[in-house]
Order: sequence, then structure tokens, then C-alpha cells
Amino acid sequence: MSDKKQFQALQAPKGVPDYVPPQSATFDAVRKTLVGQAYLAGYSHIELPVFEDTTVFARGVGESTDVVSKEMYTFADRGERNVTLRPEGTAGVMRAVIQHNLDRGQLPVKLAYYGPFFRYERPQAGRYRQLQQVGVEAIGVDDPALDAEVVALADRGYRALGLTEFRLEMTSLGCGNCRPAYREKLQEFLFKLDLDEETRHRAEINPLRVLDDKRPDIQEATADAPLMLDHLCEECSTHFETVKSMLNDMQVPFEINPRMVRGLDYYTKTTFEFVHDGLGAQSGIGGGGRYDGLMAQLGGQDLSGIGFGLGVDRTVLALEAEGKTIPGVEERASVFGVALGEEAKKEMVLIINKLRQAGISSDMSYGDRGLKGAMKGADRAGARFALVLGDQELANGTVALKDLAAHEQEDVALVDIVEVLAKKLHG
Ligand code: HAM
Repeated sequence: MSDKKQFQALQAPKGVPDYVPPQSATFDAVRKTLVGQAYLAGYSHIELPVFEDTTVFARGVGESTDVVSKEMYTFADRGERNVTLRPEGTAGVMRAVIQHNLDRGQLPVKLAYYGPFFRYERPQAGRYRQLQQVGVEAIGVDDPALDAEVVALADRGYRALGLTEFRLEMTSLGCGNCRPAYREKLQEFLFKLDLDEETRHRAEINPLRVLDDKRPDIQEATADAPLMLDHLCEECSTHFETVKSMLNDMQVPFEINPRMVRGLDYYTKTTFEFVHDGLGAQSGIGGGGRYDGLMAQLGGQDLSGIGFGLGVDRTVLALEAEGKTIPGVEERASVFGVALGEEAKKEMVLIINKLRQAGISSDMSYGDRGLKGAMKGADRAGARFALVLGDQELANGTVALKDLAAHEQEDVALVDIVEVLAKKLHG
């Protein structure tokens, strides 16, 4: 048996996607576009650890959630510390804000982040064990205008990518004043039903989640269940009305889904989800909401907060489902150099270096590929211009400049080429 056959080819862990060229360009563009919207709205970048003390998530996200009870990558490190790969971003942001006293300055603190998160879920299309999010958190001011800003920001991000076939669903989950009474009312209703043991148990721990049960018999039995939206206190009700009217003014379309249940326990008041209909079961492309008790729960001041997490992986799938591509995304180099012969190559290395110094994206062919093979490289790079340098051009002190879209060619003096290209590309 040859060495090669003895070993099984290594694979990425189950449920963990790779993004390789050319699709990786779309992934990168999606992430940049979404986080770019946050930077445009005054959010500062925050870079957080990928693992934290397990308590951050247990206390922050909620012990009764699937995320904490079933899906965390938790392990003891070599010093026997109990750590967890972050399953989401909000709890870690709050921990960092408290630790670095960011909440003692100007409020709101507006932060944006992106990167991988880890959940031990059953992998399927659009559901991964390493998932990528772009997130924002706005902390310290309980102003409905901030809710409207956060929601509109996500909506603009998706639209900037060209997505159109998504819906924004919203509800209000109430606050510490109105939710306990509602919860009791809902439990009273649920306990009267003939529920199986597991569902009954859920009704005891987190009754709201029973309303989100997808089984038809449960949906039917809970059709007349009391809804949080009908039991909001005055303050929550006014807050939600203001958010809705601001979104209407900004022409951000939304639907009310009074039965929305998020997978994390910290939500209060405004809560929302972006749903894409082209994705099958894993249709949530992003979601978020207010979490007014979270900071106090993590040992900080009692400040409010609101944010979202947008799923980058699912946004890429949504673009595919809509048959949309991001213009220019696969263009890796505007200019591609082709040198024929050793002397020409030396000169081309210099030209390409000068182009890069001038901020012009450029690449060249390596190895001895001949003109035809090298021009394929120009094509693959998505280049607008090719530079061809052979013995003849070298002798004349010129280079052949090919406009690949217009199918035109001209000879340009070597000393002028950077300037000529800069003009053509940047005007
Ligand atoms: P989340 O709804 O758990 O919220 O996740 C946000 C988004 O991440 C989802 O809408 C989905 O697009 C994506 N996502 C979640 N799990 C997976 C998975 N297994 N595979 C692929 N994509 C996934 C949060 O994480 C909150 N921290 C958001 C937030 C920030 N709320 C307030 N601030």
C-alpha cells in the first residue's frame, strides 16, 4: 500500500464549513458590508476572546436555554479552568464593557463585532457548529430611537447586499414589570391543557417557548393562549409603538409576530428576527432585541442594551437562493502582468511592485506559462488590464497595455505605465 492510501484524507470537523475561493470572496464581502453599516452608524469595533469563563454564558445567556444546556463547547483547560467557546456575542461584550468600565463614559456605548461562534447543534443545511456572525450592541440608553436604529441598520445591511426576499418580524417581550404577571396568566392557560410530560415541564420553566412549538396539535391547543403583546405595561407599550412608528417613517417594512420566541433568555421589550423564505428550515438570517437586565445579571450596573447578531453563513446562502452576486466581488487584481522571458520578468516584478505601492491591485504570472496560459491567469484574476512584456517591448522601452473588456491594445512607455493605469482606473 502506498503511503497516500494508508491515511484517510483529513476533513474539517463535522458541521464546520470552509470558505475557499472563489466563494470565500462573497463571504468576505457579506461580512464587510454588514459590519460596514455598523461603522457608518457610529459603532466602534470590539474584538473579543473566542473563549470565556463558562459562567459568562451560563449566567448571561440563561441556564434553561438549549444553547447553554445542550450546545456549548465546554472544557477544562490544562489549568483546570472551566471555559467555553463562545456560542454568541452579547454576553462576552457585556463582560468586556463591565471589565473595562466602558459604561462609565459617554452613553450609549455602541460596539460592533464579527467572527466565529460555536454551538454543538445537529448539522444540516444552514446550521453549523462553527457559525459566523456580525453583531452590534448599543448599551446604556433605553430609548426607542436606539431600537429603531439597530433594526434599520440590519435592514440596510441586507439591502446593501441586494437581498429583497426577506421579512422582518417583530414583537415586544415586555419587561420586569409586566412579564411576570403575563407569565403566570400563560401558565394558568397551559396547565389546563392536556400536555405531554416534556411540554408540561417546558411550560413550568419557560412557558413562552410552548407558544413556539411547531407541532400542529400544540399550535391548535394554544391558538387562544394569552399573548405578551396584549399584556404589555404602559411603558413597554408606548416604547414599542414609538419603535414601530419610527421604522414606518424610515420605510423599514416589518410584520408583527406575537409568538416569536428567541433561543436566548435575556430578551426584553423589542425583539426581532429577519427571516428568509428561500432557506428552508434554517430561515433565520439574523435576530436580536433588547436585554435590559443582562448587565446587572453579569455583575455590572443596571443598564439597558439592545443589539443583533446577523448570520453571515445564512446571508451567503440567501444570496445564492435569490441568485444574486455581489458586483466585482471576484476581482482580485485590476492589473495582471505577463512577462515573456527572464529579462522581462525582472522588469515586470518592478512594475507590479510600483503599481501596488500606488494602491493599484495587481498580480502577475509566475513560472514559464507562455502567453496563452498566462492570459488565462489574467482572466481568473478578473483583471481589467493586462500588461504584456516581451523582448520586443523591452528593446523599445515600452509595454503592451491590453484593455481586456474593450479588446483594445496600446503600447505605453515603461516609465509612464503606473501613471497611465492610475488615470484609467481612478480617473
Ligand atoms: P441568535 O439568534 O442565536 O442571536 O443568532 C443570530 C443569527 O446567527 C441567527 O439569526 C442565524 O442567522 C445565525 N446562527 C445562529 N446559529 C447558527 C448555526 N448553528 N448555524 C448557522 N447560523 C447560525 C444571538 O446570537 C444574539 N447574540 C444576537 C443578539 C445580539 N441579540 C442582542 N444582541
